[in-house]
Amino acid sequence: MKKHLQFSVKALNSFNIQAIAPKIFFPTSLVELTELANKHFTHFYVLGEGSNTLFCDEKTPVLIKPSFKGIELTEDNDSFYVKVACAENWHDFVEYCVNKKIYGIENLALIPGSAGAAPVQNVGAYGVEVGDFIDKVSWFDFSQQALVNYSNAQCKFSYRDSIFKQKLNGRGVITHVYFKFPKIWHPIISYQGLSCLPPPVSAQDIMQKVIQLRQEKLPDPKVLANAGSFFKNPMVTNACFKALQQKYPAMPFYPQSNGNVKLAAGWLIEQAGLKGFKEGDVGVHEKQALVLINYADALGQDIVKLAKHVQQQVMKQFNVQLQAEVRFITQQGEVDSASVGKG
Ligand code: EPU
Repeated sequence: MKKHLQFSVKALNSFNIQAIAPKIFFPTSLVELTELANKHFTHFYVLGEGSNTLFCDEKTPVLIKPSFKGIELTEDNDSFYVKVACAENWHDFVEYCVNKKIYGIENLALIPGSAGAAPVQNVGAYGVEVGDFIDKVSWFDFSQQALVNYSNAQCKFSYRDSIFKQKLNGRGVITHVYFKFPKIWHPIISYQGLSCLPPPVSAQDIMQKVIQLRQEKLPDPKVLANAGSFFKNPMVTNACFKALQQKYPAMPFYPQSNGNVKLAAGWLIEQAGLKGFKEGDVGVHEKQALVLINYADALGQDIVKLAKHVQQQVMKQFNVQLQAEVRFITQQGEVDSASVGKG
């Protein structure tokens, strides 16, 4: 199996943070995953394309970067079935589907990252979440040393969350994702930036428009190092929302089926006066306040410090706690974002 020792991960994370991995492994088969399972690492982290990861320390834990490749397509009268290996690039996979006239995930174009990482945080954009089209996920369980299939229901998908981020976190590796795309397709164009598309709307039109919207609003990580939305949009109770709305009638809000209300973290951060804020090598993006940027050679701790500042200012003004969407990785493995960067 390909492996490196004392390896710089700067090119393996979209924040472009310099950190050294004591060991990094690139398994491509179940035999190699079994080999890794037998090493019983105390601390390790499974890395995809590093587009949702913040390395907080100058060293990382042992890294496992699953490198399974390949796409397989079958169909019946009603649906297309696509099996994609974890290390395929997500956007390339979206393009592959649309070019083959397989529709459903066109709204998720240009999301950075790998296909295997997409179910972990149930990536979503422009009215679609990846979990809407996942049939099952194949996951290699390190303790059983075997592949286990998780059905859509067992994946427990919710807003930027799944069983892989919760109970199964740090216990195995997603190897393949199985999609089911019904042949009867309904365009999803309810998001304000898409509703202007003139009918009849094709999946190609949606994909192109999503690409354009993302390029206008979100910085390209290859130009300005970042990890997309740094924070999740916060959920608050209806009572809390009503109190805030009285004070801030223009505040965007999204009522949820359980009675809670989702707020727009970007709007809260902008209202707290932090859009475009810059200190040293780090800052808040000037077009989308949900995105934190490494402008040059920031350390992981510089981003941690900025994130705390943003959380404190939003808390001070709105009494709303922002939770990080980005995963915080210290030398000891993944930690809750609240427990790093103290002092
Ligand atoms: N807003 C501001 N200021 C800002 C940013 C946003 O006032 O700096 C306002 C907007 O005007 C709008 C509302 O906040 O009224 C929501 O903004 P937007 O539609 O841009 O979406 P978002 O909630 O900020 C979410 C996802 C994005 C996804 C977009 C489009 C999260 C954490 N983020 O952002 O996902 O692309 O919706 O669907 O849910 C990502 O996860 O990396 C990501 C980019």
